[in-house]
Amino acid sequence: HNGRPPPHLLTLADLSPEQISELLLSSLTYKHLCKAFSAQVVRTSLKGKTVAMLFNKRSTRTRVASETATSVLGGNAMFLGGADIQLGVNESLRDTAQVIGSMADGFMARVGDHREIEELAQYSSVPVVNALSYLWHPTQILADLLTLYEAYAPPLDLKEGAYHRGQVQTDLAKFIRTRVDPLSVLKGKKIAWVGDMNNIVWELMATVPRLGMEMSVATPAGYDKVDDAVMARLKGHGIDRSITFTNSPKEALHNADVVVTDTWISMGMEAEKEERMKAFQGYQVTNEMVESAGAKADWKFLHCLPRKPEEVDDEVFYGPRSLVFPEAENRKWTTIGVFE
Ligand code: CP
Ligand code: NVA
Repeated sequence: HNGRPPPHLLTLADLSPEQISELLLSSLTYKHLCKAFSAQVVRTSLKGKTVAMLFNKRSTRTRVASETATSVLGGNAMFLGGADIQLGVNESLRDTAQVIGSMADGFMARVGDHREIEELAQYSSVPVVNALSYLWHPTQILADLLTLYEAYAPPLDLKEGAYHRGQVQTDLAKFIRTRVDPLSVLKGKKIAWVGDMNNIVWELMATVPRLGMEMSVATPAGYDKVDDAVMARLKGHGIDRSITFTNSPKEALHNADVVVTDTWISMGMEAEKEERMKAFQGYQVTNEMVESAGAKADWKFLHCLPRKPEEVDDEVFYGPRSLVFPEAENRKWTTIGVFE
């Protein structure tokens, strides 16, 4: 990286809409490449490389997505759970970053407080991808955007492209770029968040208004504070006033194309469970709630998972509007887009 800092991904707030679009196009290329062509044709850009997966918190999707993504790209994923290495018990984050960074080629890291991922990035000589922090979850929102693009875009007929032996990936990437413009499909759609004020909604807030999407956020009183660091990024992008904040799910859901929620008790907040369950009464997403609020007739539902029944009932979660499982699968394809 020629003395410059390596290209970390700590939040999508650091990327331009064009860069986000480019990641979506690349993710879509790999998705079609792996599904419609032989795995043999995938360019193994991580061949001979190792990605250190530093996870101090539990994970199903992010871990499986990053391990499978690494393997599609021909690399080696080295999982380092909280109990496996010296970090946090016998060794500092700074020393850990320097040592692992001198041997591995990149980090996928879920380390808790956002300060920690920043410190890791500061002392790592190789790229660091944030696998969820207190503030942000960039790889999740990339998957959400790809899922929404696919839900709204007309299906792509790969047969219309021309693919030549030895350059299938290049030909497919070109074909997709002539047919797909993710941002024009997403533009104008309204996202309504109903639930907790957390890393997922913050990452959405810092991203979707810049893509020309509308956004409204309903959180209970007392849980409506946007973290100062997030607010600073929104102001920096000039989008703090383009988001509607309310304590009324009904108001947020009016005219919504997409309804999104997440657990009321994020990892590390288990001690607040009782008070949160009380404070969030009336926030469970149900068909009745969304429809009586006047959402769009074909509204769609997203949830990053893991899901608890409190925040959304089974009828919505397993119903025809729910995109949650394609959304989870897209974690893999978008992580390939990031790692590639
Ligand atoms: N959505 C998500 O990040 O899930 P995991 O915590 O299982 O990785
Ligand atoms: N807000 C949740 C997201 C889990 C993927 C958490 O931080 O636990």
